[in-house]
Amino acid sequence: MKRFLSLAELERDEVRDLLALAARLAAHAEPSALAGKILGLLFFDPSLRTLASMQAAMARLGGSSIVLAPGRGTWQLETRDGVVMDGAAAEHVREAIPVLAGYVDALGIRAFAGGVDLAADLDDASFRGMAELAPVPVVNLESAIDHPCQALGDWKTLDDLGVPAHGRLVLSWANHPKPLPLAVPAAVVHMAAARGMEVVVLRPDAFALPEAVMRRARDAAQRSGGRVSETDDRAEALAGAHALYGKSWSSPLHYGDAAAEAEARRQLGEWTIDLDWFAGAAPEARFLHCLPVRRNVVVTDAVLDSPRSAVVGQAHNRLWVQMAVLHRLLGGPR
Ligand code: CP
Repeated sequence: MKRFLSLAELERDEVRDLLALAARLAAHAEPSALAGKILGLLFFDPSLRTLASMQAAMARLGGSSIVLAPGRGTWQLETRDGVVMDGAAAEHVREAIPVLAGYVDALGIRAFAGGVDLAADLDDASFRGMAELAPVPVVNLESAIDHPCQALGDWKTLDDLGVPAHGRLVLSWANHPKPLPLAVPAAVVHMAAARGMEVVVLRPDAFALPEAVMRRARDAAQRSGGRVSETDDRAEALAGAHALYGKSWSSPLHYGDAAAEAEARRQLGEWTIDLDWFAGAAPEARFLHCLPVRRNVVVTDAVLDSPRSAVVGQAHNRLWVQMAVLHRLLGGPR
């Protein structure tokens, strides 16, 4: 494996190999596997889980990491091409990334969607442009339209919970005060489809995922024997569901228009996930969310504090799968 930019770039066998390695590393420590290796972590946007789990992953494998947050103790970096740099940014990623890459063995980059131009964000051009500037393996720590570390951890969580390979996963839009990126829903709908699941995207009409996101998921489902559909009917979506994955995301219809999106959300107060959403689900159905989550806005305390919630274990799985990714990228022992 030369890079980890999207789960969609991996064959099913490669995903299975990473999951098996993650299980091996969880069971048996390999504290010298990446001795002497250094991971650079470039965070244009905030994080709790990704930052801490990537650093912990390198440390547990005997390597080390350098964290840079542009504009916060590091020069503010320009990412756009062809601009006159007379603003806040003192340095361009065209210099900064190759320089940083000369100090490290692999580079992780987090750069969220711009949230203004839907086509540009779906294309992920800004992130992929930065990845191409690095002559070392790059890990996507969440870009405009993908979050493969989250998706791989979620696949492991579904396996750990015993959710059937062809079971039903409902990815539900949820209430939120702000427009959020499409990266996690895009990654999750693809992951579940690639796992072979019957995936239902439950959302209000104005929040239907972009066609490009749904097409990628349908293509993955065709290869895996899964199925992808969408609806705004909660009872229909959740009937017999094995997992309910909550997440808020921006309306593609109102992309970049915060006022129009706020107006669309005003009618959607009932989209706070609560225990009664599970009424028609499988008895053992579990709740997943990538975190961070706003309690009693996205999902109630009653769900998060119940045995249905798998969110903490889900976040812990980020560590094991990222250790596996780093192990493969940096040549850890087979
Ligand atoms: N789920 C996730 O990526 O969490 P952070 O934004 O805290 O890294």
